[in-house]
Amino acid sequence: MKKILASVLAILMIISMAACGGNSAPAATEAPAATEAPAAEAPAAEAPADAGQKTVGIAMPTKSLERWNRDGEYLKAQFEAAGYAVELTYSDNDNTKQNNDISNMLADKVDLLIVAAIDGEALTQTLAEAKDQGVPVIAYDRMIKADAVDYYVSFDNYTVGVLQAKYVIEHMDLDNAGDKTYNIEFTAGDPADNNAGYFFNGAYDTLKPYLDAGTLKIPSGKNTFEQVATPAWSTDTALENFQNTLASFYSDGTVLDIALCSNDSTAAGVSQAIESDYAGSNTVMVTGQDGDIGNLQNIVDGKQTMTVYKNVADEAGVTLVLAQALLNGDAIDASLCDKFAVTAAYDTESYENGTRPVTSFLLVPWSVDNTNLQQLVDTGNYKWDANNKYLESTAS
Ligand code: GAL
Repeated sequence: MKKILASVLAILMIISMAACGGNSAPAATEAPAATEAPAAEAPAAEAPADAGQKTVGIAMPTKSLERWNRDGEYLKAQFEAAGYAVELTYSDNDNTKQNNDISNMLADKVDLLIVAAIDGEALTQTLAEAKDQGVPVIAYDRMIKADAVDYYVSFDNYTVGVLQAKYVIEHMDLDNAGDKTYNIEFTAGDPADNNAGYFFNGAYDTLKPYLDAGTLKIPSGKNTFEQVATPAWSTDTALENFQNTLASFYSDGTVLDIALCSNDSTAAGVSQAIESDYAGSNTVMVTGQDGDIGNLQNIVDGKQTMTVYKNVADEAGVTLVLAQALLNGDAIDASLCDKFAVTAAYDTESYENGTRPVTSFLLVPWSVDNTNLQQLVDTGNYKWDANNKYLESTAS
């Protein structure tokens, strides 16, 4: 049943966009089921003819959120292996610093910018300078509102939320709940992050029929993104916010069944709040995203139920193929997907940079829980610890 549901979900997920498949990855309609990992292949890194003369500027938002350390390392390693010089910065979640870091790259005359924005609306002026200099800009993972942005590489972030919701529906068996009601609370991400709304909406839209039917209930009443957003994706802020929610709405013995968190850094805070401040005896279902090491340990220990995995090594590989095409002056259309090592959707309508649609390549996320952790190891990005109990990252 699980595989049928997951396959149906995967097909629905892909039909929603013009999908194109990589050479060795499963065909688009066979995109990984919710609990099956796509085949892991090293991305094809063709050294461009004049790679030695090209420099790529890579701007990551922060080191304080685990995934960006992996993104930065994978991007740097793959671009250098393909013959490019790389300038890599991390901007401490400080918008002023990120603008300065990018300005410095432009002063160094980089040939291409790859930017994961802290705030998608805070780089407009600096990236206008990139446009003036004719430096192409790839928005990496998070969309950026700037006319200089012509390309976007990310995951289908609405589907990240859908996967979290589908996991709740399946594992709480909501379709057979009868007249039972389950209590749920939402924790969303940073309002400055263009992705955060997609994660929340994907989850909320999918669960709304169950909220409308009374199968799900939100005791706090917090049912809008703004009410449950977490600035900077901060674990401490998520912890504090959830402690307040528990104190206000659960101190009377109300049972909490589900904590739907948009990512692992917020799930870490929510799990801490549940451990310290929730009086109920039941295990609360906690969702997340990213496969952060501490959260994977929580999944083994039963403090978190699932995470949505996005293979950022693959995201880096797709970005490399796009960058090579851009710098070599090749055509950039759906056929580029044939060079990807993994399946990605080619989308020219869903995402815009504030003035016009942007050509986007969207990779496929998939669900992980304590039944398929081995599939994370199979990606090559994780390994088992010495006791074969917890996972460790293989990134340096
Ligand atoms: C999002 C990203 C997610 C999430 C969050 C915190 O933009 O797509 O993976 O973890 O930022 O970094």
